[in-house]
Amino acid sequence: MTLSPAWLDELRARTLLSGVIGKTTKLQRAGREWKACCPFHNEKSPSFTVNDDKGFYHCFGCGAHGDAIRWMTDHQGLPFIDAVKELAQAAGLDVPAQDPRAREQAERASTLHDVMGQAEAWYVEQLGRAEGASARAYLAKRGISEAQARSFRIGLAPESRTALRSALKGVGDEKLVECGMLIQPEEGKREPYDRFRGRLMIPIRDPRGRTIAFGGRILGDGEPKYLNSPETALFDKGRTLFNLDRAAAASRKAGRVIVVEGYMDVIALAGAGIDEAVAPLGTALTEGQLERLWRLDPAPILCFDGDGAGQKAAVRAISRALPFLQPGRTLRFLTLPAGQDPDDLVRAGGRQAIEALLDAPEPLVERLWRHEQSALPLDTPEARAGLKQRLAEHARAIADRDVSYAYASDFRQRADALFTPPKREWQPRPPGRPAKPGDRRGAWPVLRPVSDAAKAMSRTGIDPATARALLSGLVRVPVAISEHVEALSHLVFADPALDQVRSALVEAAWRGGVLEGEALNTILLRVGAIDLLQKRGRANGLAFSFQRGDADLERARRDLGEVIDVMVKRSELDARIAEATARLGDATNDGAWEEQQHLQRERQETDRRLSELREQAGDADI
Ligand code: UTP
Ligand code: MN
Repeated sequence: MTLSPAWLDELRARTLLSGVIGKTTKLQRAGREWKACCPFHNEKSPSFTVNDDKGFYHCFGCGAHGDAIRWMTDHQGLPFIDAVKELAQAAGLDVPAQDPRAREQAERASTLHDVMGQAEAWYVEQLGRAEGASARAYLAKRGISEAQARSFRIGLAPESRTALRSALKGVGDEKLVECGMLIQPEEGKREPYDRFRGRLMIPIRDPRGRTIAFGGRILGDGEPKYLNSPETALFDKGRTLFNLDRAAAASRKAGRVIVVEGYMDVIALAGAGIDEAVAPLGTALTEGQLERLWRLDPAPILCFDGDGAGQKAAVRAISRALPFLQPGRTLRFLTLPAGQDPDDLVRAGGRQAIEALLDAPEPLVERLWRHEQSALPLDTPEARAGLKQRLAEHARAIADRDVSYAYASDFRQRADALFTPPKREWQPRPPGRPAKPGDRRGAWPVLRPVSDAAKAMSRTGIDPATARALLSGLVRVPVAISEHVEALSHLVFADPALDQVRSALVEAAWRGGVLEGEALNTILLRVGAIDLLQKRGRANGLAFSFQRGDADLERARRDLGEVIDVMVKRSELDARIAEATARLGDATNDGAWEEQQHLQRERQETDRRLSELREQAGDADI
């Protein structure tokens, strides 16, 4: 069996581990991971976790551990080759033919790595020689120290058509052509010659740190500025990121990964102590590169020049990424001052100059909104409708249903806020017939500010059933949390555990804006809300639209907003009723009773509205 490690990596990358394990084991979302009762040993509380990003499962109880292939052999009991075949079929990959040529190919790849290593060492040696003086001067002029050059193993290809070829004679022309170091002229019997001449040689490595290609920069000005290795058996440009091998380790420490445009930017950042930077190879990010980035960090930071071209590139990157966004899997953006790349910034202002910008990267949703909204004047209904349409299309491009929905509602909210005047507060409908002039009981009194004492008296809070309904609605329609964060912060739930969930959501929404997916799950998990909300049973009576499993999300969102408004109104009324009641005993205050009665009627009105919002429950949870 000679399946290459690269092919097996590809197979693992294309396999969603939770999908495979989820077929036979019931998995529960737990933040960025999944958890379950371990299928390898007997247990009551779940200590088995599945991490899709890492592609591993692990049991903290019995130590069972492995990837998708291991799952198929150890849990499903398949022989290795059958496990691979089954996964490959599900992933739409062909299993490479098992003939002697495949074996030969795999062996050749390892010798090609060897050839690349030899070429690299030879280039480094050339840079150190007397003939390398002007190249070293060029590096110095660019602020690249010897230590930096050494750590990236930068070298020099001399200005010659035969130098590398004769230095690596032992390797043979065929292999050197195969790994792109020599060019074989197509016609005639002309000899192959060195591809890279008179260039600074920057090695490009695979994730395991093996050199698989070179970027050759011309010394000084000239065209083309960079000459890169062609695609070879070792070098798949679309799946390679410059400096990924070093950045992977650094990103774990730094808690971030940065994507810049050029080799020189990566090298300059590393010089400033920022090792967690990578660069694609002169093209827009591919799906394969995004996959690799997301394995390092859920929200890579992409840096783009603030000029027109850079901003176009940012938008192109967004379009590429949209289909692959997932809960907790996004991109962030950093817009550099126009005409400056990270290399310029770091050289002018040191590490601080870029750290200041890295401190507050722009979320993808914000970047896209800014792009669409600033594109055109929005002074006609057609233009505004056009904007809404473009935004809706972007949201539709997202394959993940939850994320797609969250984007759609976020954009709708932003567009509405941009186009419509602030909405008025919900007012309870006056009861009974319209008030006659002079009849105090029918009129709506202007509500006065409530005293703290009265507030404290009304702090019995919202009953657990309604509180639970509200919370499960908010979890279902998370965009409503940030929409109503202010109102939610004023509500009090009678049940302290439920109230803790409420305040955790409020706090997170204040700090982080729109809450969804992973972030939301993490919070729920932290405050133990999952269990709390799961206590909900089947409803036999009435339920709100947002408690239904099959809720129409737009309607759920609207009703949720209204129930929150009503609850706020009601707690205000409760406070006032308490205040008026307190004044009842005060003989000098003859209006207290009337006011109390009036407030009570208003409160009944809120009850009526709440029951209107409830309907036959069907499959709702309560
Ligand atoms: P840049 O022109 O920004 O390169 O192109 P740079 O890395 O900042 O280099 P300096 O600072 O001018 O020396 C960004 C990337 O695009 C690819 C390279 O990967 C480069 O790092 N590129 C650019 C090419 O492949 N060929 C070119 O001719 C130019
Ligand atoms: Mn540059």
